[in-house]
Amino acid sequence: MAYRDLKEFIARLKEAGELKEISRPVDPHLEITEIADRAVKRGGPALLFTNVTGHSMPVLINQFGTASRMCLALRAESFEELSRRVESLVSLQPPVGMKDKLHAVRRFVGLAGLRPRRVRRGACQEVVFTGDEVDLGRLPVLQCWPLDAGRYITLPLVFTRHPETGRRNVGMYRLQVFDRNTTGMHWHLHKDAAEHYRQCGGRLEVAVAIGTDPALTYAATAPLPAQVDEMAFAAFLRGAPVEMVACKTVDLEVPAHAEIVLEGYVDLEERRREGPFGDHTGYYSLADDYPVFHVTALTHRRDPIYATTIVGQAPMEDTYLAKATERLFLPLLRLMLPEVVDMDLPKEGGFHNCVLVSMKKSYPLQARKVMHSLWGTGQLQFSKCIVVVDAEVDVHDYAQVAWRVFNNVDWRRDVTLVDGPLDVLDHSSPRPLWGGKIGIDATIKWPEEGHHREWPPDVEMSADIKARIDELWPLLGLE
Ligand SMILES: Cc1cc2nc3c(=O)[nH]c(=O)nc-3n(C[C@H](O)[C@H](O)[C@H](O)COP(=O)(O)O)c2cc1C
Repeated sequence: MAYRDLKEFIARLKEAGELKEISRPVDPHLEITEIADRAVKRGGPALLFTNVTGHSMPVLINQFGTASRMCLALRAESFEELSRRVESLVSLQPPVGMKDKLHAVRRFVGLAGLRPRRVRRGACQEVVFTGDEVDLGRLPVLQCWPLDAGRYITLPLVFTRHPETGRRNVGMYRLQVFDRNTTGMHWHLHKDAAEHYRQCGGRLEVAVAIGTDPALTYAATAPLPAQVDEMAFAAFLRGAPVEMVACKTVDLEVPAHAEIVLEGYVDLEERRREGPFGDHTGYYSLADDYPVFHVTALTHRRDPIYATTIVGQAPMEDTYLAKATERLFLPLLRLMLPEVVDMDLPKEGGFHNCVLVSMKKSYPLQARKVMHSLWGTGQLQFSKCIVVVDAEVDVHDYAQVAWRVFNNVDWRRDVTLVDGPLDVLDHSSPRPLWGGKIGIDATIKWPEEGHHREWPPDVEMSADIKARIDELWPLLGLE
């Protein structure tokens, strides 16, 4: 059963012993960050602050802060189960036998029923402020880190429509609160909503939901192609359609059961300095000019909970959001690159500074083909370092990957250096937005790849001796 809203998820967290309520007074200026940072680094619980200095609204943070909570959020047993769900969705093999056929029919009937459903009333509009009544100061917005330019709404689901096609996009883009009714709109130029903005010709209507069923919140972060509606993807994840309600002051829909909603617009002509902000990379992202979001309505439930997160040096909550993405998108990647066996995006590299990928090589320089394909695929285009290893290497075992790389690579032959687009947050390239990237081919090299020496086998014990020593081991007194 899907969570109807954030509160049902909170109830589930409580039941599972995964939530800690904190009633001592705590300041949203830096103090919540320090507590949440310590909690996430220790694999601690989700935190519900009920006594936030200057505010009556409780603050929820760290809801996604462990692998098991991330799975609970998406109602999965494990990340592997998430992978399997997508795999069964995209496996386009014709059904064999009656059981298979029934499964295929159920799958497609099920998908058809997952379109977002419009409802007339939404709990997110139990309390409505419009025009001059809007005051973002009502929200317990955090200043996350000491050198941040101010307070940031960090877990917003930002809804826009493509001005020509009308197609919806939902992305997570932080909002720096400027005053009672304006914020920054930090969509990077590569992201889908930024394209809506470029095409809007004047004003673009925007709605923001804060605090939803976690499947919706996750979906806003997922690197889906522009053609895929994040609310339909969320419905696939939660196994039930998302109920949407019409906004009060803009022609958009928002999740009916959200805790808080902001409605408004951005104008193509208006930009303002945004940042710096302590970011996913563990560094402050640099200040830059971004659109200004004018809030025309602030609506919320009668008893709203403000959901937020902090980002910074890993591990943080976004580490687990990214792990879910890694697992969910692997089957999709393998549709295009069937030779790929597995991939791992180490948390120390943020979302895309490093990608480890294992593959089954069938022809010379196929590892390079995989690198170039990744550099041409969705948000993997931002990968700064791609390491390719053979199929039998476990990419989640970094020591094993390091052993193969340090020993298998000829640094003149096996390295590919290219230039290409970089994530906006990258601070290392000499100029913003593009820079150098590296691909490292650590697969075993073939004669056809110019390696005419013998390639030595791995040092390993033979299976019969291992079995013999398994029997002997308990008798040796070495345990
Ligand atoms: C906590 C969090 C905050 C994020 N903040 C931003 C942001 O401020 N700007 C941005 O462009 N992407 C941000 N992202 C990444 C986007 O949400 C992600 O790239 C998403 O796929 C964008 O959606 P889109 O493909 O529909 O544009 C954030 C991700 C997370 C998990």
